[in-house]
Amino acid sequence: MAAAGALAGKVAAITGSGQGIGRAIAVLFARQGAAVVVNALHQSSVDAVVATIRAAGGKAAGCAADVRSAADAQRIVDTAGEAFGRLDILVNNAGFPLDAMIHKMSDAQWDDCIDVTLKGAFNCIRAAAKYMRHEDHGGRIINISAAAGLIGSPGMANYCAAKHGLHGLTKSVALEWARFGVTCNAVAYGWVDTRLTGEREAGEQVLGHPVGIPKAMREQIRAGYQGHPQSAEEAAATALLLALPEAQHVTGTIVNATSGWLAG
Ligand SMILES: NC(=O)c1ccc[n+]([C@@H]2O[C@H](COP(=O)([O-])OP(=O)(O)OC[C@H]3O[C@@H](n4cnc5c(N)ncnc54)[C@H](O)[C@@H]3O)[C@@H](O)[C@H]2O)c1
Repeated sequence: MAAAGALAGKVAAITGSGQGIGRAIAVLFARQGAAVVVNALHQSSVDAVVATIRAAGGKAAGCAADVRSAADAQRIVDTAGEAFGRLDILVNNAGFPLDAMIHKMSDAQWDDCIDVTLKGAFNCIRAAAKYMRHEDHGGRIINISAAAGLIGSPGMANYCAAKHGLHGLTKSVALEWARFGVTCNAVAYGWVDTRLTGEREAGEQVLGHPVGIPKAMREQIRAGYQGHPQSAEEAAATALLLALPEAQHVTGTIVNATSGWLAG
């Protein structure tokens, strides 16, 4: 992994990059020459991704932190400042659905989904102001969203509300920080094969909630999916497009990366 590449000289922080799409973005950005900050809830996941990037010759620093906390969000972006002296790219990737029909949805399912998926992005963007909100600094904020941010979905009111909210946040930040040369965009994915869309296994949890989708339901949803399922590595490539220096005039957009499922 040489320093030359489309992101040479840039410093990127990617939340929730211990696995899945976030991990693929961290690895791809490092391969493109960026120094990256890897974040996940658990130190072991952070260490594994940092080691993978370094073993390939890339630059990485880690920060185990919970984006729901403003102080933790500040630690994530300050890791970029302390390790690499600046922050050019922030990818707000941490997020997840906690499925339940609205009449059965618990406070915890609502709050945890909104707090990670929407408030976590707010926490990190506000923390990044210290690095990005300067005349002629330039920068890229990429919010990882979902088709749930474009349409409603039964059993996902919390997730749809969070991702729709993320789009409003994206457009507002794009306007507020345009004069600093900072772009802010979102990418709405359809189905990406990760742990989030994998089969539920007994006992596996994130923040006290079960991970994955029950087997029968998963098979039904995946069979009925009308786009092309993509890998985390393919998903990361769309985020790279928005991170490129050449993407300086693209801001306030929601990029539809649902592989032909939705349009318009
Ligand atoms: N997989 C899909 O089909 C799909 C589709 C559309 C959008 N997305 C979005 O992509 C993003 C990544 O999802 P994924 O599929 O890679 O899921 P994943 O479950 O594989 O990865 C999510 C990561 O976020 C981390 N995380 C969770 N809570 C956190 C917190 N409070 N603080 C810091 N990190 C936290 C997890 O530890 C994990 O590493 C999410 O925002 C998700 O909504 C995924």
